[in-house]
Amino acid sequence: MAGAGSTAGREGWSSRSAFLMAAIGAAVGLGNIWRFPTLAGENGGGAFVLVYIACVALLGLPLVLSEVMIGRAGRSDAATSIANVASQSGKSRRWGMFGGVEILAAFLILSFYSVVAGWALHYVIVMIFELGEVVGQGSPFAPAFAGDSQDAITGRMGELFANPGELILMHALFMAVTVMIVAGGVHNGIERAAGIMMPAFFVLLAGITIYGAFTGAFAEAVTFLFTPDFSRLTPVAVNEALGQALFSLSLGSAALITYGAYLGDDLKLAPTAGMIALADTCVALMSGLMIFPIVLAVGLDPAAGPVLVFQSLPIAFAQMPGGALIGFLFFILIFFAALTSSISLLEGPTALVIDRVGLRRRIAAPLVGGAAFLIGIACALGYNVWSDVRPLSFWPIFAENDILDSIDGLTGKVMLPLAALGVSLFTGWRMDRGLMAAQTGLSGARLALFRGLIAWVAPVAVALILLFGLFPGLLV
Ligand code: PHE
Repeated sequence: MAGAGSTAGREGWSSRSAFLMAAIGAAVGLGNIWRFPTLAGENGGGAFVLVYIACVALLGLPLVLSEVMIGRAGRSDAATSIANVASQSGKSRRWGMFGGVEILAAFLILSFYSVVAGWALHYVIVMIFELGEVVGQGSPFAPAFAGDSQDAITGRMGELFANPGELILMHALFMAVTVMIVAGGVHNGIERAAGIMMPAFFVLLAGITIYGAFTGAFAEAVTFLFTPDFSRLTPVAVNEALGQALFSLSLGSAALITYGAYLGDDLKLAPTAGMIALADTCVALMSGLMIFPIVLAVGLDPAAGPVLVFQSLPIAFAQMPGGALIGFLFFILIFFAALTSSISLLEGPTALVIDRVGLRRRIAAPLVGGAAFLIGIACALGYNVWSDVRPLSFWPIFAENDILDSIDGLTGKVMLPLAALGVSLFTGWRMDRGLMAAQTGLSGARLALFRGLIAWVAPVAVALILLFGLFPGLLV
């Protein structure tokens, strides 16, 4: 159903909870389950967690509200929406440029996100076989990988990386599912998919966390995550926490503006934005409480880095009762979380192609997804045949990065902060005050607080991410 003032033929969410599921699905993803525990582990736990929460509250939340509001007031793709709101405020439509940066960022993130999600899909399949084996032996609650040495288990990741065919096949499968859902439309595709996967995700998350609490080193994990040791808090860690907050909340990458454009005019935006930020942060913390008890119980290193989830956890699944089943459920959970995020990554650029080029959704979605798939192939090959390619070797901070890490670095350290900077400056300094008050539903002290955060705190914090992200030498 088209809301007032919407583009002709534009679909909308069928209810507030449908929007919330989709937006929380966009936010909750690999960033929460894979990157957050990795970063918290590498940066000493508690102090990092505390800084992360401060970043979400002070800059993440106001930016979520800004982006959803711009989408609803602008009612188009991310670039056109910002331009429309600028027109409504009597300002230059050129501000729409930042929406262009968001859409390009979403497209590039999608290309490598699908490759990493493909790893999870690979492990789902591995675990199906493991589960089949233990069930066949009559003990469905046995650990996984019976008889395999620790080296054999960790070696699986290396084997996967050395196999371009498998990496590309999993990437293709994941992208195909993403395209199919987005091609189905806002109501019949995105909303339905999120409505099924998000509740399942929360049940799995709660279940595995409870399992970890009973069988794993829960107390140790709580201490690790929530006891701040500020001596471990380096400027680099603060910078990482800020960047992670943007990525995890899907800010600066078209998703929230585009989803906001499908919202009805009657919804109160401020509490809705609060729920998105709160849910995303709770899931990140719960992921820590799900993963670290298992990792610590079997004496693994919480600072293992990006392989924490894919390489360390299978070792734990090989040692714990019920490991085969829990391992299977765990990778399904990652798959669901990644899929509801990749949908939102594809929807941003697809909306642009629909609105600006005039293609139908059924054509636009496979076209954009197909192009991102091709770039993703290069990322996958970067782990094997092109392993010595360094695409950004001319740029000191990215000089050592392989293809996937280059795109990750370029989007996360440059494009997302740049877009978020533009959005916060636009909202804080250029957007019509009356329009802002009407859209947010805020007034008095709350409106003043929001304006203070979005006009001052967010731009300064985001500018710092950009500055230190690009010139880390300034930090030491
Ligand atoms: N927020 C998602 C995650 O944490 C990733 C994402 C980024 C999704 C940008 C949409 C847009 O995994």
